[in-house]
Amino acid sequence: MKKIGVFTSGGDAPGMNACIRAVVRTAVYNGLEVYGIKRGYNGMIKGEITKMESSSVSNIIQKGGTILKSARSTEFRTKEGRQKAYEQLQKHGIEGLVAIGGDGTFTGANIFYEEFGIPTVGAPGTIDNDLYGTDYTIGYDTAVNTAIDAIDKIRDTADSHERVFFIEVMGRDSGYIAIPCAIGGGAEIVMIPEAITSIEAVVNALRAGYDRSKTSFIVIIAEGEVPGNANVVAAKVQEALPNMDARVTTLGHVQRGGSPSGADRMLASQLGIACVEGLLAGRKCEMAGIINSELVYTPFIDTITKDKLISPRLLQMVEVLSV
Ligand code: F6P
Repeated sequence: MKKIGVFTSGGDAPGMNACIRAVVRTAVYNGLEVYGIKRGYNGMIKGEITKMESSSVSNIIQKGGTILKSARSTEFRTKEGRQKAYEQLQKHGIEGLVAIGGDGTFTGANIFYEEFGIPTVGAPGTIDNDLYGTDYTIGYDTAVNTAIDAIDKIRDTADSHERVFFIEVMGRDSGYIAIPCAIGGGAEIVMIPEAITSIEAVVNALRAGYDRSKTSFIVIIAEGEVPGNANVVAAKVQEALPNMDARVTTLGHVQRGGSPSGADRMLASQLGIACVEGLLAGRKCEMAGIINSELVYTPFIDTITKDKLISPRLLQMVEVLSV
């Protein structure tokens, strides 16, 4: 293999730039030509492909977002779209790809390989940490730190005004962001899709707190929570506790931005190197990840279809620590 392409796809995540940097430099180190593909699969279809050098990735390790831009492509979901993408890669002589993204990105790469035989090795780039095959995804640590910083600030108002704050965090269908936010942010209650908490249980926990003379509370709600988003939960709880002074804060995309943490830079660098080395070793349709400090490659199909379970022990910690 002489020429490879690299792209970022799906929701951006802090550390994607550090990963691009590692991919480009590892490629150069190994004597490969490396091409940056802009705007994920959309850019591949349109031929937004530029040769990168070691200097193309100078001064980006500390930057949030992705210099290659990102997109969720609907056109790549069609055979015609993938055909166009293949033709563009052929035009540039690109024989292998490094995809930095989440499960949607890897689903596309799998189909692309089956149809056109272009091998892809992936790096898990998503703040959600919802991918099987790695303990942590690139961007997760930074997102959690960003959210906890915001929760600390909200806590000041919760305490001063003796309020209950219902704080919604990201994570799509997963509670991986919510759990450390609840533990590290000192929340009284956490609600995640993996373990449904009834409104009644929230009301009872708040009542028990008021009975112990607590005057302020933080409730962390994962956006994929089943009874509904933070507004829905707050309204339902308010019906049962009419005297509660409640506010809702949705942290939203603030969690996706900012300079990556040291842990994310390290992870992104390790996995960027592993992706290029994986391609050179003949790997395809696999994601590089770290499990128990060891580098592992997991088939894309497993990263997409297998559940990464949240330990019930973590949920129990929130209950114990809020007593
Ligand atoms: O996958 C990352 C993520 O931020 C999720 O947590 C969230 O549900 C989604 O992306 C939001 O996507 P968008 O930025 O397209 O609205």
